[in-house]
Amino acid sequence: MNKSFKPDVNAETVDGGAHVARPHDSAIKHVTGKAIYIDDMAEPAGTLHAYLGLSTRAHARITSMDLARVRAAPGVKLVLTGGDVPGINDISPAGLNDEPVLAEGEVKFYGQPVFCVVAETRHLARKAAQLAQIEYEDLPYATDVVAAIEAGHDHVCTPLTLKRGDVDAGLARAPNRLKGEMRVGGQDHFYLEGHISMAIPGEDDEVTVWASTQHPSEIQHMVGHALGVPSHSVNVQVRRMGGGFGGKETQGNQFAALAAIAAKKLNVPVKIRPDRDDDMSITGKRHDFHIDYDVGYDDDGRILAFDGTFAARCGFSADLSGPVTDRALFHADNCYYYEDVRLASRPMMTNTVSNTAFRGFGGPQGLIGAERVIEEIAYKLGRDPLDIRKINFYGGEGRNLTPYHQTVEDNIIGRIVEELEESSDYQARRKAIVAFNENSPVIRKGIALTPVKFGISFTATWYNQAGALVHVYRDGSLHLNHGGTEMGQGLNTKVAQALAEEFQVDFAMIKITATNTGKVPNTSATAASSGTDLNAMAAVNAARQIKERLVDFASEKYSVPKETIVFEPNRVRVGNQVFSFAEFIDQAYMARVQLSAAGFYKTPKIHWDRATGKGRPFYYYAYGAAVSEVSVDTLTGEYQVDRADILHDVGKSLNPAIDKGQVEGAFIQGMGWLTTEELWWDDKGMLRTHAPSTYKIPLASDRPRIFNVKLADWSENREMTIRRSKAVGEPPFMLPVSVLEAISMAVASIGDYRTCPCLDAPATPERVLMAVERLKAGA
Ligand code: MTE
Ligand code: MOS
Repeated sequence: MNKSFKPDVNAETVDGGAHVARPHDSAIKHVTGKAIYIDDMAEPAGTLHAYLGLSTRAHARITSMDLARVRAAPGVKLVLTGGDVPGINDISPAGLNDEPVLAEGEVKFYGQPVFCVVAETRHLARKAAQLAQIEYEDLPYATDVVAAIEAGHDHVCTPLTLKRGDVDAGLARAPNRLKGEMRVGGQDHFYLEGHISMAIPGEDDEVTVWASTQHPSEIQHMVGHALGVPSHSVNVQVRRMGGGFGGKETQGNQFAALAAIAAKKLNVPVKIRPDRDDDMSITGKRHDFHIDYDVGYDDDGRILAFDGTFAARCGFSADLSGPVTDRALFHADNCYYYEDVRLASRPMMTNTVSNTAFRGFGGPQGLIGAERVIEEIAYKLGRDPLDIRKINFYGGEGRNLTPYHQTVEDNIIGRIVEELEESSDYQARRKAIVAFNENSPVIRKGIALTPVKFGISFTATWYNQAGALVHVYRDGSLHLNHGGTEMGQGLNTKVAQALAEEFQVDFAMIKITATNTGKVPNTSATAASSGTDLNAMAAVNAARQIKERLVDFASEKYSVPKETIVFEPNRVRVGNQVFSFAEFIDQAYMARVQLSAAGFYKTPKIHWDRATGKGRPFYYYAYGAAVSEVSVDTLTGEYQVDRADILHDVGKSLNPAIDKGQVEGAFIQGMGWLTTEELWWDDKGMLRTHAPSTYKIPLASDRPRIFNVKLADWSENREMTIRRSKAVGEPPFMLPVSVLEAISMAVASIGDYRTCPCLDAPATPERVLMAVERLKAGA
């Protein structure tokens, strides 16, 4: 609250309450460079800098490691190896003891950290790291899903199977059968701010760690684990990340642990920030998948039986591969009812970096399998894939049960698709495109409408809890703290809006503070799109506790019934009297009313039994659909998105401006995943695409030329979520499946739409050109 700030005590509504479009609280700071990221923080005197030495083998025994030249290099203060970890040399988030902070004896992927140098400057540490002499004895390795299966690699964690009905009988009975496979690539998170940690030693065994993380409590736990000290000795703070996208759910553990170990050994602050190439080589990414499907369907295109296997490149350790591959299965139905179904995951161990969370958390990889099957059936039957989609939607008698035995109760996909089809003029445009293609020898166009249904809640049920800490100060200003982390998604803004609405004070009265494990303990990762759902509810719970005390106090002091005490915009009505909020709070303080509360929330109704594959893992679903139109140059394979129309469901939006931003950003990021972002490992297992020079994320110039994004403003969450809103972070990531399918249609025009091009993702221009050539050759 700035000095001149005076809340309007006569206002009809508060400024910045729930459901209003307002900018991200840091928007201006982001674009003017005033937002403070960890590397912008004033460094305490004496801060040293760490850098990592990496393995140059995909799988090998370390036969000797000579670090004498590293230690002797200018400015070097300390060199750490696995043996120097004072506690346990493991940061496995799955608790499987399969992920060392620094590899000891054996390396399992090219780029695995094997030692850490601490020097006076980052530059000196980085130069010194190059002086190591390490000798290896190579061991067999497989970097690719199929190669790993062929080499008989283990799963990194327990696979899951979801079953309903009798899939074998269903397949045998079906009039038509279709078998196929699809490869779906991974994706680098490409957050603008890379990984970074700064550890500041305290007295005894204490340490404070600033980390760019979505999961401060896990960093706290891992740092404690690596140092061999209890969690109470470690304080983790996060003001903001410059993007996380899932890449900072677990991947910050290593950096935080190393900074903390070095800081405690030397008793000075230590900061670690790998450069972009190292960040891309060292940290896990989206899992790429190999999907096999065997499907039975009738002559109308109705899917009768679906048998799918989803094999994923997990990397050398489990990390989050279990829940990620589970979520792929939970979304392999997307919006479609399968009568008889079996879905199996194969989380494959590969000699690559350990893959991790990425926006959608496996959901996109599962969903794309469903959409590929729809597309194939449509081409086989000579129909518009949209017709096949509609006929398979959940809905109607006995057609609402998912493969994990949760009933879809809130289905609005029919209405979403109908409205979008209308508003985007889909049918007329599709006809026009078919006509255009007949007379266009080189440029071909395509259009597709694809839907999304995404389950909201962590499937690890215990994660669905949150805490908040709210203080009201004597001047009526508020301090807000909660367990979620801000990564650009606008979580803090939305939580503050919910709090402003609850207290009926202007947004400007609320100070949003850095996430801090000392203020709110045992937090869950800010992930699964649930940040607002969980933390805003916890903040409101804290506010209600304080309000209850205030009402008790005022009712007694002024001898009025409790019902006559009303929180109005920036003022409180007590019977016939009205006080400004600040005046009222000061009275309460003088009467010794506790003006601080810890709030808590846990999501109701959910349960999940992985052993039986049954339950209600999701509190509700978010829905959306997109129509994309593309032009493809059939001589080069290049393409552009001419137009995209989106209708997306966020329930009753807490902030339509931020939610729309999330939908747009997710669409573009998903488009990058499916089109140009290609990860490529060479035959030595080295990731060659480790910088923007070789890894192409979408540019501003790649955006759809016409981009119509609308929120379904009529939607309201039927569950009692925070002000009936819905989560928004991940679901729209899957809308650009429509781009992939539109490219596919443009390519299919070469073969008169008789053959489904079955493009693998990413559909890079090379891949598109090869598909065009295949069709020209009549394949
Ligand atoms: N938006 C921005 N700007 N930056 C991010 O890193 N991460 C996404 C999504 N939107 C992300 C983002 C991911 S992966 C998730 S799970 C959600 O935000 C997490 O935040 P929420 O739960 O508050 O939506
Ligand atoms: Mo998001 S992948 O759940 O961090």
